[in-house]
Amino acid sequence: MVGGTDPSRKSGRHAVVFKRIAYKAREDHIERATLGALAMKRVATLTLEEVTEPLAAQYLAMVDEFTAADGEYPYNDAETARQDFSTFIRDLRDEANGVDLPPDVVAQTTYVLLLDGERALGEFRFRPLLPPPYRSNNGHVGYNVRPSERGKGYATRGLALLCEEAQELGLNGLSLAVDGNKPASVRVIEKNCGTLHHTVSDPQSGEPRSWYWIALLKAECGTAANRLDALSS
Ligand SMILES: CC(C)(COP(=O)(O)OP(=O)(O)OC[C@H]1O[C@@H](n2cnc3c(N)ncnc32)[C@H](O)[C@@H]1OP(=O)(O)O)[C@@H](O)C(=O)NCCC(=O)NCCS
Repeated sequence: MVGGTDPSRKSGRHAVVFKRIAYKAREDHIERATLGALAMKRVATLTLEEVTEPLAAQYLAMVDEFTAADGEYPYNDAETARQDFSTFIRDLRDEANGVDLPPDVVAQTTYVLLLDGERALGEFRFRPLLPPPYRSNNGHVGYNVRPSERGKGYATRGLALLCEEAQELGLNGLSLAVDGNKPASVRVIEKNCGTLHHTVSDPQSGEPRSWYWIALLKAECGTAANRLDALSS
């Protein structure tokens, strides 16, 4: 599922710093210069980065905000992160490298979406290798943005960054699963040129699970890098 994580999955992470994307922030970030009517736009930088010790405070602040809003942080092993951040990081790295995973769990890399290298806006989880037996349960990507930062285009841009990385890794597309009715998540996928592939019913809950596909090589959508440029303008 896009937002959730498999409960049997250990928490994980690996070490790549994604390219940076600078973009003109929306009006709430516009700073007006005092000279005349000249308006200066602040240029913010978004990156997807591995979780490391220096990010502990920012990561935990994000987790705390989710917990205050929703009562939990269901996307990763928040308990370990709170109790022992070094162990959390080691578990994430093992998970990214496929170390000690249960047989039905694929490797997953966890990235923090960072604003200006400082503020943790959300989390992206990337499962680059999905052999056929796992494809019916897992999409390539899951993501969540902290409640106070929603509606500012961050998930859209974060997914665009991940698309670019996936394209560079040689993937021809990304599959994403959306459980239930999540219009914001669907919109994020659609803005990244994703389209609905098919919908199934969860055999237990009966809830619909919609599978989307982002074709990374689709000519009319341009390359992921082109889309990043378009989102930045
Ligand atoms: C889904 C989520 C990641 C979106 O993050 P975000 O940073 O707010 O997303 P963006 O700002 O990039 O884009 C959101 C888009 O959805 C639209 N949107 C938001 N709520 C909507 C609604 N109820 N109906 C229709 N569109 C909606 C926004 O208008 C925006 O589209 P626009 O730019 O065309 O106006 C965030 O809401 C979240 O973390 N939710 C909890 C976890 C989750 O549900 N993850 C997905 C699970 S399937």
